[in-house]
Amino acid sequence: MSTPDQVGQTSGECIFVLDFGAQYLQLIIRKVQEQGVRAESRPADISVEELLPEKPSGLILSGGPASVYGEDAPTMDRRVLETGIPVLGICYGHQLMAHLLGGKVEPGERREYGFTEIEVVEPDLLLEGVNSPSQTWMSHGDRVEAVPPGFQVLATSGYTPVAVMGDSERKLFGVQFHPEVRHTICGPTVLRNFIRKACGCVSSWQPADFVEESVAEIRAQVGEGRVLCGLSGGVDSSVVAALLVQAIPEQVTCMFIDHGLMRKNEPEEVKEFFGELLGKRFVAVDASEAFLSKLEGVVDPEEKRRIIGETFIRTFEAEACKIGEFHYLAQGTIYPDVIESGGGQTAKIKSHHNVGGLPEDMDYELVEPLRRLFKDQVRELGRQLGLPVALTERQPFPGPGLAVRVIGGLTREKLAQVREADHIFREELARADLDQSISQFFAAIADIRSVGVMGDDRSYVHPIILRAVVTEDFMTADWARIPQEVLARVANRIVNEVKDINRVLYDITSKPPGTVEWE
Ligand code: XMP
Repeated sequence: MSTPDQVGQTSGECIFVLDFGAQYLQLIIRKVQEQGVRAESRPADISVEELLPEKPSGLILSGGPASVYGEDAPTMDRRVLETGIPVLGICYGHQLMAHLLGGKVEPGERREYGFTEIEVVEPDLLLEGVNSPSQTWMSHGDRVEAVPPGFQVLATSGYTPVAVMGDSERKLFGVQFHPEVRHTICGPTVLRNFIRKACGCVSSWQPADFVEESVAEIRAQVGEGRVLCGLSGGVDSSVVAALLVQAIPEQVTCMFIDHGLMRKNEPEEVKEFFGELLGKRFVAVDASEAFLSKLEGVVDPEEKRRIIGETFIRTFEAEACKIGEFHYLAQGTIYPDVIESGGGQTAKIKSHHNVGGLPEDMDYELVEPLRRLFKDQVRELGRQLGLPVALTERQPFPGPGLAVRVIGGLTREKLAQVREADHIFREELARADLDQSISQFFAAIADIRSVGVMGDDRSYVHPIILRAVVTEDFMTADWARIPQEVLARVANRIVNEVKDINRVLYDITSKPPGTVEWE
């Protein structure tokens, strides 16, 4: 199993990814590692003097949110491009390379966002084996208008005259699209060509064993300290609990707090499963009243998250005092949570409080063994730890639970409606045998009302929104093509079985520009 940015057994070959503030930095590292070559991140402004002694096999310049003409645009030591080390620029990295080497970068008249077909002009070494046209995924405003001296245009797209450029002599390449994203069909081929053909890497690198490494890291961090583990019953926190039980069985207590925002029957299932698995190391607390009374009427999603994060910690503190003294709080923060909370540049990931709306004045130090992993890696880890498939394959459920699926002002009535509708949706997808192939699906209740009619009665109530997505890493997602007859059955049951719902909507937006959740 490959873990991002991890130093495993060395073959000597290593690709450095220079970080220009990319959201997808860890994903790039991971995709390189999946090609069997070690990858690590380095700051964008690393100098030639710092770089050369490390002898990287190749460099990837990441994307980033800036424009090369922006005032504080990150740049790089231009001499790095003259060292003979092969370089692949991605998105911003592609534009920066063109800019620094004498090409022409123009501010875009509009943004090119999402799926884009490229036409291969010159297969060359980088695009060998890539079909033309080929579907890619782009997200940029500026574009390269003219290549620098010595470069060739290797591919174009409708909007971008230089979608891919290259100088095979000097082994310098740039791609406007994101090869690391799943929706770029030729992404793995392009990365493989760069790594194997341009950089000449031959290793088949395997990262170190993650279970062993995490167990060692946890022991080193907590020493003799006692650890309280927040257990929600989801994949992430369950895997953390299993890791802790392996690492420090005598020092850990897992606490499940029922915030009253879980799906139908879930609190009961969690208590039954973990009560059996963890025995005296498992404590369940029903705090639903405390949460709901604070959340009633709250509209702003971030405020909901803040309240829930804070109430969680306060409940933990109060309950933990009853069972003893703890120094650490373990939680299942994973990599996408970290970057979506604004911890983008790996080098600067910090301030745990940014994640999950935690308050700043906590009494605990955090233990977050999964913060460098993507969801599918966490599942793989769960399997390695021997957790049952029903648990490792469970779809994600957000920490703030149904609170962020009651769009706008939260009421107990809307909570009950969304819970029931969600249950029907889940039941019907399982019956249609679709529940394993769709990555995440749920119901939300909208903050608008519409007129409806049933029998002779006019209604003026809220609609239910159904959301179902297919994704590999939850950073990009496509909406699930659920057969119409299944949707019809779900909608019919919801309007008939859930009180005061007169309409059902199906969300057909991808991420981006949408997110998976509505709030
Ligand atoms: P978005 O909506 O950001 O969701 O596209 C991506 C994944 O993250 C989950 N999600 C959350 N999980 N706390 C969580 O623990 C949150 O505040 C939160 N918001 C979204 C979402 O369900 C999806 O799996």
